[in-house]
Amino acid sequence: MSFVDKIKELLEKRELAKLGGGQKRIDSQHKRGKLTARERIDLLLDEGSFEEFDMFVTHRCTDFGLEEKKYYSDGVITGYGTIDGRLVYVFAQDFTVFGGSLSLAYAEKICKIMDKAMKMGAPLVSLNDSGGARIQEGVNSLAGYAEIFQLNIMASGVVPQISAIFGPCAGGAVYSPALTDFTIMTKENSYMFVTGPKVVKTVTGEDVTEQELGGGVVHGTKSGVSHFLAEDEQEGILLIRKLLSYLPQNNLEEPPLVNCTDPIDRLEDSLNEIIPENPNKPYNVKDVIEAIVDDGEFLEVQRNYAANIITGYARFNGISVGIVANQPNYLAGVLDIAASRKAARFVRFCDAFNIPIVTLVDVPGFLPGTTQEYGGIIIHGAKLLFAYGEATVPKITVILRKAYGGAYCVMSSKHLRGDINYAWPMAEIAVMGPKGAIEVLNSKDLSEMSAEDRAQFISKHEQEYIEKFATPYVAAKYGYIDDVIEPRNTRFRIIRALQSLATKKDVNPPKKHSNIPL
Ligand code: HXC
Repeated sequence: MSFVDKIKELLEKRELAKLGGGQKRIDSQHKRGKLTARERIDLLLDEGSFEEFDMFVTHRCTDFGLEEKKYYSDGVITGYGTIDGRLVYVFAQDFTVFGGSLSLAYAEKICKIMDKAMKMGAPLVSLNDSGGARIQEGVNSLAGYAEIFQLNIMASGVVPQISAIFGPCAGGAVYSPALTDFTIMTKENSYMFVTGPKVVKTVTGEDVTEQELGGGVVHGTKSGVSHFLAEDEQEGILLIRKLLSYLPQNNLEEPPLVNCTDPIDRLEDSLNEIIPENPNKPYNVKDVIEAIVDDGEFLEVQRNYAANIITGYARFNGISVGIVANQPNYLAGVLDIAASRKAARFVRFCDAFNIPIVTLVDVPGFLPGTTQEYGGIIIHGAKLLFAYGEATVPKITVILRKAYGGAYCVMSSKHLRGDINYAWPMAEIAVMGPKGAIEVLNSKDLSEMSAEDRAQFISKHEQEYIEKFATPYVAAKYGYIDDVIEPRNTRFRIIRALQSLATKKDVNPPKKHSNIPL
């Protein structure tokens, strides 16, 4: 064969590989409103930046007549490219080839780029759309999955790992996304479950559709398995790009510093009036967040799950931060099981990747009741406590209003190595709310009073208690609060705090690993 023919052969092979499972299956993918694996990669990466590995890999299975059925790339496209000029490794499952199902060769392709992502210190993005283990490969497919899981675990806390689910993701296959840092799902076409509707029907008798069992809406609102719910694949891919813009490439680097044109000393007068006079009235803490961060831009994580706590990314003077904020607008901002788990996971990710944490506190306490106690609020609340206490990144806390009881301690208090702790003048920092406190302290006297006298007594002493204890000044007197700040100046004070903490060094004692209350 002449060299010209050899080059022609290469180009033909490439064209064939790009067709995946063939035009008919590509059309069927499009008909369902889905993009192909290659189209997804093109959208994700900077134009023309994709470099592919292992295009000519095929499976090695000889059972069930598979030796006659081979496709270049074998159902997964792998390689690297850039997002906003920064290196990322990516794999995209190709549903047009054996339904994107995983063979051993396919798993080896994924493991190759996972190894490289770790060596190069670059994020790993996976675009999932697969029928799971390739049935014809038997245990080899299971082995391939488990090897990917092992690398997900090794990469955890080393490079950011992001999974998008753009099709089926079922059985043990769900555990690779579950081991990564962020999962993105779409409203349609995307589902994740350990066992599908048919098995559910046989085992429990329940009738559910795929979407009802494990669709994007379900995992974004009920289970908390997914961190972002996108309208469609295009939006999902844009979310991945945006999310990465807040993150460092790896655990040894800082997040990128972005040029900021929003004045650092911008006063936000509305904040002086945002807290209602009536302490039982809610307000939207997102208004506070948007008022203080650069250009009001906030990327919320798990927006529809445990809405009583808000988590997400923003910037102060171009510095990327993770924000955790109790949300008085939902369940009065109480800490419950779901909120504790959500925030704990978020705090740990920030700490692993050198992202400072800004905590805005307005929390009446932990949610009481048998549902919470039977569900283990003790252990789940401890997760958040542990995550904050263990974190060594800069930690800035602003108590906006309530900080009661154990929830005061948990929410990045001074006692958990909070670096800079501020409070607004309307802050109430105490062991419990005024009414409860009066009732406990005077229980004997109250039990002997008529209902009317009791109400009068409580109301009289409530005011006394509020003036004496439900203020920021008792905590400030002991140095637990570094300063009481004017709300409208919060942005400036946080930026100054972040600047002062840029060189912070703090370490935990040497150990194999901690034993976070799982
Ligand atoms: C081999 C598979 C496959 C699989 C699909 N295909 N899943 N081939 N192994 N697991 C092939 C089909 O034969 C078909 O081939 C093509 O992919 C498209 O599949 P369809 O069924 O036509 O597509 P659709 O109707 O959209 O249904 C998609 C699906 C369904 C819901 C994913 O295919 C399905 O239920 N597949 C089996 C899923 C499954 O049980 N997987 C194993 C789970 S256990 P042709 O040639 O016709 O195009 C598991 C364990 C992992 O994954 C453990 C890890 C530890």
